Amino acid sequence: MLSGGKGTRLRPITHTSAKQLVPIANKPILFYGLEAIRAAGIVDVGIIVGDTATEIEEAVGDGSAFGLKVTYIPQDAPRGLAHAVMIAEEFMGKEPFVMYLGDNLIRGGITDFVDEFQRNRPNAQILLARVDNPSDFGVAELEEGRVVRLEEKPKEPKSDLALVGVYMFDAGVFAATKSIEPSGRGELEITDAIQYLIDDGQSVRAHEVTGWWKDTGKLEDILEANRMILETIEGRIDGDVDSSSKIDGNVVVEEGAEVRGSVLRGPLVIGRNTVIQKSYVGPFTSIYHDVVIQNSELEHSIILENSRIMNLGHRMERSLVGKNVEIVQSGMMPKAYRFMVGDASRIEVP
Ligand code: TTP
Repeated sequence: MLSGGKGTRLRPITHTSAKQLVPIANKPILFYGLEAIRAAGIVDVGIIVGDTATEIEEAVGDGSAFGLKVTYIPQDAPRGLAHAVMIAEEFMGKEPFVMYLGDNLIRGGITDFVDEFQRNRPNAQILLARVDNPSDFGVAELEEGRVVRLEEKPKEPKSDLALVGVYMFDAGVFAATKSIEPSGRGELEITDAIQYLIDDGQSVRAHEVTGWWKDTGKLEDILEANRMILETIEGRIDGDVDSSSKIDGNVVVEEGAEVRGSVLRGPLVIGRNTVIQKSYVGPFTSIYHDVVIQNSELEHSIILENSRIMNLGHRMERSLVGKNVEIVQSGMMPKAYRFMVGDASRIEVP
């Protein structure tokens, strides 16, 4: 399980936090992957960690909460996916294994793919999905169903088949990771390692994923993943909703949360001890624990813990708000925007 990386596309969130721990429907992205791995019958998991090692270790612990036995494998710097594989050699030994990118979500899990790999026992198995923007991914070129070429983020992609962030290898991949050179961006690319296997005459199977899958490396993809997961939830009110509030659709209100004089239109989740007052919270919104929303309207957004959104003059949508953030209308004159915003933030005003 890869949970290091730079996360440049998700700054400023990743200045202070691991992107793999951003909650989707109030559960960290990484946990969905760990659950999928356990469901596929895998118990021993090595997690590659980088700068955010402490945070990841605090969240996952020894893995027992997931029924897993977790070992942490520190990576000194994000030197590429193939580098992450290389440093896991001692942990893996001679066993075939799954490599899972910690920011990927696959509806339906990975059990079928792991079973297929076990049945056929190729040297490597990759998952492919058709995408509109192949230049953002590793791209596979097939001939008569066989993988013949792989390219990382090609300017002129030869197909629309992107590599999904779940791979299966036997121990032969370690030799490949040691034989390749860093790419133009200075990383050991997993696409180059797999290309090495192909050129070496080893068997590389491809399986097309037809259900939804998301690489949540960018804001839009996180919001989209949040939408897709929320579509599958069932409503549950464990918190306190007053009689002047109105609830439509699948809405989860966690224990200790308070909803007063508000309209909640699901699917959405409200975390523990969060307070929603005189507000509208619309579909596809995940509000984490200990948040305050007052006199405001928002939808299609993710709000992390301890943030406060108060008296907004316009509806907020398609937003990701980090921890301990305040977005408030002060009511003071002159009517001007006042910001204290961290590096690499983005604010859009109407
Ligand atoms: P990416 O999203 O490809 O890379 P990144 O995390 O550096 O992000 P960005 O491109 O926005 O800068 O990484 C996929 C997953 O693999 C992600 O969960 C981070 C992890 N990873 C590592 O653990 N080690 C690495 O050396 C790299 C490159 C990624």
